Amino acid sequence: MADPYDEGTAAVAEHVLRLREVGVEYRTPGGTVTAVSDVSLDVPSSGITVLAGPSGSGKSTLLRVLSLVERPTLGGVELRGRGTARLSSRARRALRRTEIALVFQNPGDNLIGHLTVGDNLRAASQAAGRPPRVDELLTRLGLPDTAAWKVSALSGGQQQRLAFGCALAREASVVLADEPTSQLDSASADLVLETMADLARQGVPVVVASHDPRLIALAHTRYDLRNGALAA
Ligand SMILES: Nc1ncnc2c1ncn2[C@@H]1O[C@H](COP(=O)(O)OP(=O)(O)OP(=O)(O)O)[C@@H](O)[C@H]1O
Ligand SMILES: [Mg+2]
Repeated sequence: MADPYDEGTAAVAEHVLRLREVGVEYRTPGGTVTAVSDVSLDVPSSGITVLAGPSGSGKSTLLRVLSLVERPTLGGVELRGRGTARLSSRARRALRRTEIALVFQNPGDNLIGHLTVGDNLRAASQAAGRPPRVDELLTRLGLPDTAAWKVSALSGGQQQRLAFGCALAREASVVLADEPTSQLDSASADLVLETMADLARQGVPVVVASHDPRLIALAHTRYDLRNGALAA
């Protein structure tokens, strides 16, 4: 398969993702809004990295940039030591299928609702060209014997755990999550936190945007944002 990257040969990367002087601006009818300005940060290749900060500080915008969903207005994103600026939209989509998993806030947005639990995991493996590992993953997620269940039969917390399981099924290089516990009761949120910690223990780097203190407490690396910039 052709190398989908555009620049050089990656050394063994110590950081799975890096942002270099990233700025994000949006044109709105009321003028230009600066969502992120001059952010440089490194996401280590292991552990949980938290992007913390109040509402409107730029957490979700940075996650979209880190996950190659959105191109920054300024600056660059490196994935495993390689620049991504000149990648085509198609190459970026391919990387999002195979390397980068993004978990959204709303559990229902992360799964294919009309498929069973097992078929969601199988679809995730297949999309990334990986072998299916349904039973192993369900056991690991604490959801054994649910392979034949409809996704809608799972609670919100179970759905979020399955969403992280789909990232494992894809064998993604990095998992990013936008406030994955904010729509859950605290017992369900605890189990999702455990799943994330588990993922990190297995060597999968996790990047989470959150202002949940329990999640921030799990961080190995933490960046605080204020008004779109890193806080001093
Ligand atoms: N598509 C857009 N168009 C215009 N402005 C935007 C757009 N997306 C984000 N913004 C603005 O950029 C800033 C950062 O937004 P962002 O959603 O990244 O913050 P956040 O830290 O995730 O907030 P929250 O905790 O509420 O989710 C806000 O001022 C927001 O209004
Ligand atoms: Mg947000």
